[in-house]
Amino acid sequence: MNAGDLAGKHLVLGLTGGIACYKAAELTRLLLKAGATVQVVMTEAATQFITPVTMQALSGRPVFTDQWDSRMANNMAHIDLSREADAIVIAPASTDFIAKLAHGMAGDLLSTLCVARDCPLLVVPAMNRQMWQNPATQRNAAQLRADGIVVLGPDSGDQACGEVGDGRMLEPASVHAALSAFFQPKLLAGKRVLLTAGPTFEPLDPVRGLTNRSSGKMGFALARAAFEAGAQVELIAGPTTLETPWGIARTDVQTARQMHDAVLGAVSGTDIFIAVAAVSDWRVAQVSTEKIKKAAGQAAPTLQFVENPDILASVANMAQAPFCVGFAAESHDLERHAQEKRLRKNIPLLIGNLGPATFGSDENQVILCDAQGITHLPKADKQALARTLIAEIARRIDIATPV
Ligand code: CTP
Repeated sequence: MNAGDLAGKHLVLGLTGGIACYKAAELTRLLLKAGATVQVVMTEAATQFITPVTMQALSGRPVFTDQWDSRMANNMAHIDLSREADAIVIAPASTDFIAKLAHGMAGDLLSTLCVARDCPLLVVPAMNRQMWQNPATQRNAAQLRADGIVVLGPDSGDQACGEVGDGRMLEPASVHAALSAFFQPKLLAGKRVLLTAGPTFEPLDPVRGLTNRSSGKMGFALARAAFEAGAQVELIAGPTTLETPWGIARTDVQTARQMHDAVLGAVSGTDIFIAVAAVSDWRVAQVSTEKIKKAAGQAAPTLQFVENPDILASVANMAQAPFCVGFAAESHDLERHAQEKRLRKNIPLLIGNLGPATFGSDENQVILCDAQGITHLPKADKQALARTLIAEIARRIDIATPV
């Protein structure tokens, strides 16, 4: 996630009692790094798990715990603290606090702030799996959702009590990602987006193969931006070490043919297909089942290649094709190659760049190429650029776009 993606946002971070309070420390750091200001408010129970001093040092602001705190000149902490807030985030949100919220109770500073708020409220539950499964908790969480409160998580996995199951608080990076998504305009609400990303790997023998230098960063950034814009996103990824962005369904593949099959299996009902993967155009005709050995005096091996299927062209030529977007890294004559490629692939939009200098980099500079001509976009961080590209795609999908 990017530095600066919460720039200008003022957040009230509420901590309630639970061992996951330690995660709120890291979350505060991430939110500040993303440009937000964070006002911490803690319940009495939360102070049993992490001290206000720690949270004050991390947030750089005094922490409030008491409804009758005299530091507010008008003694109206419950109103003043959220007056400037863009959102209140309760992380961790305990069973007890969720029950209070569901009933509109206002017996302490944090619950009163929530009832008196004039901004969105997001809660991040954290509790033992049985407490989460309890019908009363489920009823209360459903009530929060019905009241327009965003419930993030919980995660499943190992719990502090030694049990395993649903109830763990989301990791701080996921809460940060969910918050960034929350503030983005929902330009693709209700749309389904399918993407390919990363390189492919074509085996030569059990230990060697052909691949390329694509890092997958641009494709993953676009997947994240599409999700932030409200789309349901499915990502088919070649071999990369990148983490799956929050909220995205990912399928890992190795070869071009596996990517082709995965895309054709997922494309039905998709509104937008974005082919970002750097797909190998060829594979070796005969993959050796044993490691190819070098023997003294023998000539170097020769490899026979066969062409791989063109995934983008297969999708673009379907009867009910989604809006198709291609990518092309060219070494020269970018504009001419990009327009030719767009027409050859029969797609309404192609995004081109001069590569492979941008492979692995966090920045990219691209041109948009459509039936209207060429538009140059300024060099930008890949996540910021991904948001711009998603806005450009969203603008085009509702108008009949000629190829
Ligand atoms: N692509 C694809 N399947 C392939 C090859 C390419 O889906 N087998 C997609 C890429 O994901 C990208 C676009 O097609 O969106 C352009 O890729 P590129 O490799 O530049 O296209 P090629 O047709 O292979 O052209 P070139 O001869 O320049 O390699």
